[in-house]
Amino acid sequence: MDLTLSPNDISEVVEADRAHLWHHLMQHKVLETTDPRIIVEGRGMRVWDAGGKEHLDAVSGGVWTVNVGYGRVEIADAVRDQLVKMNYFAQSAGSIPGSQFAHRLIEKMPGLSRVYYSNSGSEANEKVFKMVRQISHRHHGGRKSKILFRERDYHGTTITTLSAGGQPQRGAQYGPYTPGFVEVPHCLEYRAQWDLSGEEYGRRAADAIEEVILREGPDTIGAICLEPVTAGGGVITPPPGYWERVQEICSKYDILIHIDEVVCGVGRTGTWFGYQNYGVKPDFVTMAKGVASGYAAISCTVTTEAVFEQFKDDPGDPLSYFRDISTFGGCAAGPAAALANMKIIEDEGLLANTLARGEQLLANLSTLAEKHRVIGDVRGKGLFCGAELVADRGTKEPVDEKLAQAVVADCMAQGVIIGVTNRSLPGYNNTLCLSPALIATPDDIDEITVAIDKALTKVFQ
Ligand SMILES: Cc1ncc(COP(=O)(O)O)c(C=O)c1O
Repeated sequence: MDLTLSPNDISEVVEADRAHLWHHLMQHKVLETTDPRIIVEGRGMRVWDAGGKEHLDAVSGGVWTVNVGYGRVEIADAVRDQLVKMNYFAQSAGSIPGSQFAHRLIEKMPGLSRVYYSNSGSEANEKVFKMVRQISHRHHGGRKSKILFRERDYHGTTITTLSAGGQPQRGAQYGPYTPGFVEVPHCLEYRAQWDLSGEEYGRRAADAIEEVILREGPDTIGAICLEPVTAGGGVITPPPGYWERVQEICSKYDILIHIDEVVCGVGRTGTWFGYQNYGVKPDFVTMAKGVASGYAAISCTVTTEAVFEQFKDDPGDPLSYFRDISTFGGCAAGPAAALANMKIIEDEGLLANTLARGEQLLANLSTLAEKHRVIGDVRGKGLFCGAELVADRGTKEPVDEKLAQAVVADCMAQGVIIGVTNRSLPGYNNTLCLSPALIATPDDIDEITVAIDKALTKVFQ
């Protein structure tokens, strides 16, 4: 496939990028001496840059988003057909794809029943925070307004979602923050805070949440917001026993459970939702990235009927309902794309593929760990895996993040795009992240791990 733009075309693109684009999460000083990377086309698991170089994408668009892979004509067609018929109307009215997708989604989420549309993961999470605050005002006389979040978790980029963020480098210099958000300890057994393991560690890590609740006063706390598997904070799979205990604690103190499925949602861990691996019963579930695999901007805040009922009240009271709007939550492209995306996952059996290929990826990484002492820990669920790099296996001292980044750069030079935890915790940006599209083949998985093997050999031996 020849995707190379003519030298003139591409130099114009690069020039416009340099002159006018402000890239996300990037120190622009670097672009004074190197060209920005411009991705021009994608097919399946692969993307091509402006120079025509092919890459195998092991991170689904950089940030675990393109779950069904690139170039899906059926999603593009569904969006086009919808847009020429009806592109937009505010969500105070309904739309055909909006209703249909809500119905299909709820079929996969027993116990939940209402879908609120917006555009980004941050926004979906903020909706929950607003709902919890309004429930506090209307039903608890202002009590139960605090929201717990966990060290190492991330819930978004706005000031309030950063206030609920457990990654200090993401939040630094953006304060003052929104009050009423309280941190609980992480549950990463590899970096255990207690001298326990397995289920004992899992229950202890959850007990630490109860300690915070008792310190703050159960009556002050309305909800807890958790990732089912922590993503950017280090691909942290929960220890056994953790979620069962979290559920017990939340039931005991009447605390609503908000699961942030922005990364895990819609197949990434081999089930429709990450929480479904752990038997937890959420009151709120938020999702974004994989909902339409990046073919349209859509996020969903899903709640139980019991939560929804708390917003049905006297119509004569102008403040009695959820007074929130997201303009582009009314774009019909989002649910149209989401329906087509869900159909692909079903028709192609991608949940089963995710489980099988996820096991292969984890096994390959474990084999690499036997060869490379720099791999201290391997963890993951489905096609969502991490390898934590350490300078010393005994002390678990993390490698210098520049070395972890050098591994990523070497893979990129080989034509394989992998990720690394980035601006999360000071000193702990040392976990390689892998989240290939759910369509990955056995050969794709092997190609990814061969590239990592070569990169580790080059950087550390
Ligand atoms: C777990 C989690 N929640 C929320 C967000 C925020 O999503 P968005 O960037 O769409 O606002 C992210 C983004 O990476 C995320 O990883």
